[in-house]
Amino acid sequence: MMMGKNTVATVQEQKRNGDRITMLTCYDYSMARLMDEAGINTLLIGDSLGMTILGYEDTLSVTMEDMIHHSAAVARGAKNALIVCDMPFMSYQVSVEDAVRNAGRLMKEGRANMVKLEGGASVCPQIEAIVKASIPVCAHLGLTPQSINAFGGFKVQGKTTDAARQIVEDAKAVERAGASMVVLEGIPAPLAELITRTLSIPTIGIGAGAACDGQVLVYQDMLGMFADIRPKFVKTFADTGSFMKKAFADYISEVKSGVFPAAEHTYRIDEGVMETLNKEYIK
Ligand code: KIV
Repeated sequence: MMMGKNTVATVQEQKRNGDRITMLTCYDYSMARLMDEAGINTLLIGDSLGMTILGYEDTLSVTMEDMIHHSAAVARGAKNALIVCDMPFMSYQVSVEDAVRNAGRLMKEGRANMVKLEGGASVCPQIEAIVKASIPVCAHLGLTPQSINAFGGFKVQGKTTDAARQIVEDAKAVERAGASMVVLEGIPAPLAELITRTLSIPTIGIGAGAACDGQVLVYQDMLGMFADIRPKFVKTFADTGSFMKKAFADYISEVKSGVFPAAEHTYRIDEGVMETLNKEYIK
């Protein structure tokens, strides 16, 4: 297991050594501490927080302020993980200048170590300019959730020859533009394998099979927090949703019945003090 601070250089070395890179989404200080102490390589402040934390139906409403707020909280909790922060919808698409300025804010105010943006050849000018500003970039290809309206929903991408070739070409283009890493989401496993073998930068898969250089999952999915959301590519590593709900229900019932708080959860006071106060106040 990697000890010490994970950096762009260490994750790239992991690719060369065949040491799989681990990434989880993370949106707050307490989770960052737990994941970091468990030895995760990289934490992604994904704009999925729009859905998992803020309850929107997609990622499109997420703002720069949302990303900065959550990224800074994660950065305060993580000692060793490389912090990757998503650039939200419309923070980089309009102009190269916007992209550099907003990437800079995620680094300065959000304390990220790397920014992630969605798209291939069409965002290469943005990637080049951000990298020129000494900000490492992770690209994101395949099922890119900021494009759900163009895709017509959350659908697996790259299934035809043309579509698959386009993703390979986009992967080569983002590498040439200076990206340090690329997330491959929702594409067939053999296509992700070909891209992983073609690129010298690491690929991180989600719904892209086992041949990627690393894997990422949304933590609410892998912790089974929502029984109604179980996509095919997710493995539930712990069923914490039902575990947490039982703890909440036990708390409610113990407060109502008076079982909690018990003597061991209460502070004492000298009896004489209370005798005096009781005489004064309780008639
Ligand atoms: O926003 C996010 O959580 C992501 C991952 C699904 C890769 O981009």
